[in-house]
Amino acid sequence: MNSSSTDVPARGVSFSRTTLTELMIPAYANFGGKIHGGTLLSLMDKVAYACAAKHAGEYCVTVSVDGVNFRQPVEVGELVSLMASVNYVGRTSLVIGIKVIAENVKTGTVKHTNTSYFTMVAKNDVGSPTEVPPLLLETADDARRFLEAIKRKELRAAYSEHFDNERTRMLLTENMVQLVSERCVLGPGLQTSQQ
Ligand SMILES: CC(C)(COP(=O)(O)OP(=O)(O)OC[C@H]1O[C@@H](n2cnc3c(N)ncnc32)[C@H](O)[C@@H]1OP(=O)(O)O)[C@@H](O)C(=O)NCCC(=O)NCCS
Repeated sequence: MNSSSTDVPARGVSFSRTTLTELMIPAYANFGGKIHGGTLLSLMDKVAYACAAKHAGEYCVTVSVDGVNFRQPVEVGELVSLMASVNYVGRTSLVIGIKVIAENVKTGTVKHTNTSYFTMVAKNDVGSPTEVPPLLLETADDARRFLEAIKRKELRAAYSEHFDNERTRMLLTENMVQLVSERCVLGPGLQTSQQ
């Protein structure tokens, strides 16, 4: 194992792996008869918390969410399973990978609706971020997910920096002309530099 500032023994990925299965009842449906995205997000947050708190042995809070793209709608009557595992740990943060599948129990059809990544931070009794145990990688998949989480973190930081730079450089008066080809209408108080 790599050196770590903690004396806490590593905990295996399997120690905190958590699956939450829930039946999609009519109360979860939107006006189109499909399940609300917010219902699924709430279930993802719940399973992420359970998995993170189990690994950390502490209360955890959600800090950020990556990769929420619903590929297919979920229907009323389907059984949704959310499979969560710790993909990465930092000093006080953990990334929980969650794979969501929806099963039609009559036909046995299973569809993969999304895979998302919740970053959680462990907090101590006074509400400060607190160190979490290192992660014992038990399989090649565990190692791959850990490496992917590092890459995702690097890319997110690069994106944030790039976007902040662009935003600082962006001048409303100069860039407003871009809006002309977009599906928006400039209100009476707004005009492009070309007008
Ligand atoms: C997340 C939070 C604890 C960070 O507090 P902080 O004083 O900035 O603490 P730190 O800078 O030491 O960051 C703690 C960890 O969070 C990580 N972190 C902070 N902001 C992050 C972000 N936006 N995305 C991913 N990780 C983040 C840091 O990298 C650090 O991880 P590490 O210890 O593994 O290196 C604080 O902002 C918070 O409590 N936010 C509210 C969370 C909450 O209540 N969620 C529920 C939603 S209602």
